[in-house]
Amino acid sequence: MHTVIDFIHTSRDRYISALTEYLAIPSISALPDHVDDVARCARWTADELGRVGLENVRLIETGGNPVVYADWLHAPGAPTILFYGHYDVQPVDPLDQWTSPPFEATVRAGEIYARGAVDDKGQIFMHFKAVEACLKQTGRLPVNMKLILEGEEEIGSTHLDGFVRDHQSELAANVVIISDSPMFDRGVPSLCYGLRGLSYFQIDLRGTTSDLHSGSFGGAVANPGFVLAQVLAQMKDRAGRVKIPGFYDDVRPLLDEEREAFARLPFNEQQYRTDLGAPRLFGERDYTTLERVWARPTFEVNGLLSGFTGDGAKTVIPAVAMAKVSMRLVPDQEPDTIAEIFETYLRKVTPKTVTLDVTRLHGGKPWMTELDNPFVQAAGRAIERGFGRAPVFNREGGSIPVVSTFQEVLGLPTLLFGVGLPDENAHAPNEKLNLGNFLNGIIASTFLYEEIGKLTG
Ligand code: BES
Ligand code: ZN
Repeated sequence: MHTVIDFIHTSRDRYISALTEYLAIPSISALPDHVDDVARCARWTADELGRVGLENVRLIETGGNPVVYADWLHAPGAPTILFYGHYDVQPVDPLDQWTSPPFEATVRAGEIYARGAVDDKGQIFMHFKAVEACLKQTGRLPVNMKLILEGEEEIGSTHLDGFVRDHQSELAANVVIISDSPMFDRGVPSLCYGLRGLSYFQIDLRGTTSDLHSGSFGGAVANPGFVLAQVLAQMKDRAGRVKIPGFYDDVRPLLDEEREAFARLPFNEQQYRTDLGAPRLFGERDYTTLERVWARPTFEVNGLLSGFTGDGAKTVIPAVAMAKVSMRLVPDQEPDTIAEIFETYLRKVTPKTVTLDVTRLHGGKPWMTELDNPFVQAAGRAIERGFGRAPVFNREGGSIPVVSTFQEVLGLPTLLFGVGLPDENAHAPNEKLNLGNFLNGIIASTFLYEEIGKLTG
């Protein structure tokens, strides 16, 4: 094992320059202008999987962006890991808030800054390098491995469920590993056992065929910008509770033991608030911040657009108003059911003075797993060896839609072993990844394969 670890330590600069090349590809799945970049990124990923010594590398068409597949299946009797991650990234706006260009990775004070650094290219690359170190130094892996990297995670994994169902037997494995989440805090590695789900919509309101002079027509017609504000105001009450009838019906209540476990975590609420720059924290009454973010559903406005937003003043009644809204869901809420009750309520609270178009953009199921499987113990040991500290167990507020599909279709448990940090600006300007965690993550990943290899497949 020593030669593997030494190899990793001496490869640091080479890793950073290859990761820089990977991060330079603007694989933004949400923007049609970037389809060629996404395709190029899939090919780069496939080439890299070949370079590190994996076999059967191929791009598999899905009807959307391709899945990159590779495997190494020469450890008879040992378990098979299904590794999943994504090579697509989020858009970069607002561009003017980036200190260095989002697709020119820059190292400053031990962090690499670029779109995709933590979410998720940096973290999948960490496993590519762990595999490479094992294969190059020992000629083998301690486990069998199948890897699938998708290019649509950031847009709701549109074609991935179908892909998993269509390739059920080829994807047979014993455990799924994903590194696409933050650790609990700096120096506090964690294993995550729950994710929220999502239901995402666009709301379009139209008042008139064209914008109008607000003096000539103000008072005679409804203003869609104002109507939109009134409609949105009816989604949540002042105590932070979502008002859609039936919204909480399937929410699994928090157990006392879980609340106690959350309360024992080293969480400093004051620090959290100041780090966020929020004048006050706000959320559903009677729940702590961690409970609100990990175990309670929410309704959020993701974006709003209406009327004149340029410099100065323009007296106008906008013809249209648009909002992007989404709900984060927890077990046992079903995205389809939530979508239906949301649409029904939205139609009810929208006045007839405007026309309403509602479009469902994407969704994903919430997920939660038991901690009593041997893979969790193995991961705990690996993390302790790699990071010098046993992991805490946490849930997360974000979503990885395919995780519930792995459970339901393939019957597989998932280990969410993330090495990001909560303040690494995923989805925001100045996304970054701590290089110390990246390097420890490569080492811990080799330990993870080794610990899982000790279990029988
Ligand atoms: N890496 C995140 C998921 C994540 C975020 C896990 C925070 C744990 C904590 C992933 O890339 C992501 O952003 N997912 C989307 C999914 C959505 C588009 C269906 C999300 O959560 O918004
Ligand atoms: Zn993301």
